[in-house]
Amino acid sequence: MTTNTIKHVASPLARQTLQDGDLTRPVAGVQPIRLLPWLQIVKVGGRLMDRGPSAILPVVDELRKLLPEHRMLILTGAGIRARHLYSVGLDLGLPVGSLAPLAASEAGQNGHILASLLAAEGVSYVEHPTIASQLAIHLAAARAVVGSAFPPYHHHEFPGSRIPPHRADTGAFLLADALGAAGLTIVEDVDGVYTDDPNGANGAQAEFLPEVSLADLNSMKGPLPFDRALVEVMATARNIERVQVVNGLVPGRLTAALRGEHVGTLIRTGRG
Ligand SMILES: Nc1ncnc2c1ncn2[C@@H]1O[C@H](COP(=O)(O)OP(=O)(O)OP(=O)(O)O)[C@@H](O)[C@H]1O
Ligand SMILES: [Mg+2]
Repeated sequence: MTTNTIKHVASPLARQTLQDGDLTRPVAGVQPIRLLPWLQIVKVGGRLMDRGPSAILPVVDELRKLLPEHRMLILTGAGIRARHLYSVGLDLGLPVGSLAPLAASEAGQNGHILASLLAAEGVSYVEHPTIASQLAIHLAAARAVVGSAFPPYHHHEFPGSRIPPHRADTGAFLLADALGAAGLTIVEDVDGVYTDDPNGANGAQAEFLPEVSLADLNSMKGPLPFDRALVEVMATARNIERVQVVNGLVPGRLTAALRGEHVGTLIRTGRG
């Protein structure tokens, strides 16, 4: 083939601007394939990790017992160290693009802790580039791997807010949807989503929501137990139909959730 013919490669998008959705839709509108349809993704909250052995060890025990049943990508959030880092960084006037990678490294540290505790089972911590290109081989060698739930926007983080808007929950969901995983379970230190923070000033009035829609979440102006950006990306999901938020402090909830039982708050995505 000569350079001349390369210039004339036939492609339905060759002559289109990628900005015009009407022109790209016939090509770009197809449903993406599920790369790892058997993979269960479990996001373990940083706040749970902050509680130390009494909270971490029972979760590790549960994850260990789940290994024969499920192949898992375990992703960890950042927790209290990132909160401290944000407050110091914000006092110093650091931009969001500097804070995001620092917080991400805290999420990674929690991942290293979990992976160490599961190492005897063949579980190890892998970095994002490995998740991106070698997850399948790692999962062929071990029943589960651990990674950081934080998405690597890093210095490209959107400047709309001073605290990185794309945090661990968003990162876990983006990965689950891109991989076409079997499910995403978000492990919190509360039973699921409430109408308000159950540990906040109005905690006594907070009602537990066994199911919540994206529209409900959008209309809830108070705090949520996950990033607001998660609500946005769930609306445009291509593969993942539902996410369950469960309490990792109650033994058995995570196991039940992975078996498809309704034991926390179920959220239907835009595909559900
Ligand atoms: N509407 C709500 N429903 C349930 N919990 C809420 C709500 N609003 C706030 N919370 C609080 O969110 C806390 C969990 O905080 P957060 O989600 O930041 O932790 P995490 O998921 O462990 O952290 P990370 O995202 O760093 O992994 C709960 O302990 C609860 O007090
Ligand atoms: Mg959370």
